[in-house]
Amino acid sequence: MSSAIVFTEYGGPEVLHLVEAEPPTPAEGQVRIRVRAAGLQPADSLLRSGRFRAFMPARFPQRLGNELAGVVDAVGPGVAEFQIGQEVLGPAAAPGAHADHALADAAQLVTKPAGLAWSEAGALSASGQTAATCLHDLGVAEGDTVLIHGAAGGVGSMAVQIAVARGAHVVGTASERNHQFLRDLGAVPVLYGAGLAERVREVAGGSVDAAFDTAGTDDALAASVELVADRSRIGTVAAGADVERYGIRRMSTRRSAGQLRELVELAEAGKLRVFVQRTFGLAQAHEAYKELDGGHVRGKLVFLMS
Ligand SMILES: NC(=O)c1ccc[n+]([C@@H]2O[C@H](COP(=O)([O-])OP(=O)(O)OC[C@H]3O[C@@H](n4cnc5c(N)ncnc54)[C@H](OP(=O)(O)O)[C@@H]3O)[C@@H](O)[C@H]2O)c1
Repeated sequence: MSSAIVFTEYGGPEVLHLVEAEPPTPAEGQVRIRVRAAGLQPADSLLRSGRFRAFMPARFPQRLGNELAGVVDAVGPGVAEFQIGQEVLGPAAAPGAHADHALADAAQLVTKPAGLAWSEAGALSASGQTAATCLHDLGVAEGDTVLIHGAAGGVGSMAVQIAVARGAHVVGTASERNHQFLRDLGAVPVLYGAGLAERVREVAGGSVDAAFDTAGTDDALAASVELVADRSRIGTVAAGADVERYGIRRMSTRRSAGQLRELVELAEAGKLRVFVQRTFGLAQAHEAYKELDGGHVRGKLVFLMS
């Protein structure tokens, strides 16, 4: 048997339960993974609360968790690239990584380097691939000055490091308590809230070439529009961002094993760190989701299984 976090009605973290079930069977092109670590994302909370129901309704009992690292323990038909016992990381085939066992499409997985801690490996793929896709689509390149809103969060902290690795100058927004964290990642920190554009202008020496928003606030979007001349170089992934009002683009993630491998290589080279604020056991689901829902996670929260 296998433990999994499920919910059978929409609501707060209290609707989550840990259940025992048969491990799932991999379909064509899939592998089953004995999960060792799985990151949490705001998307998990949006699915659980029902805010996602218009375009992604829950199928009760619904599982959660989109990213994982673990050991392949069953291989479906047509899978040649992975064998039982291999250590891998990547996206789950469908929400369900917050469990002892989960399914994944073999084509989306990459080998986990031995030197990468389980907790970091299990929290790399979703936020990392979102950050990488968006910076690519915003054309962030060497010499650019890029403004990243919500720079201390899961997506933001990876976006800062990827942009720095590309040779960009990064200005990142966060509360005061995260400013040293942002400096350590290579960004110039600024406080979010009223007067943001002015503060960014001061530290950026005038112009900003691109803005990537993960916070979704009016302050962030208004400052982006004020500071970046080319609207096509402003984008947001924040769930609540009013993109129509500001005439900016909503960005989405493209996932590929090739892109994920590049992120793993950056991590191995010491240029991308997955900062894990805290790990939880599956039995601590309520606590973990309450912390996520608070909206002030530094880096990532991760379920760590034995
Ligand atoms: N994770 C993904 O792969 C993914 C993919 C697509 C879309 N998204 C969306 O992108 C957004 C961010 O995701 P995430 O995983 O990065 O979230 P997260 O890790 O939960 O973000 C938490 C961070 O947000 C910062 N923050 C809170 N209020 C802020 C404000 N007013 N201005 C600027 N920063 C603020 C916090 O910094 P302080 O503590 O310093 O306030 C904290 O570090 C969400 O809406 C999510 O649905 C995420």
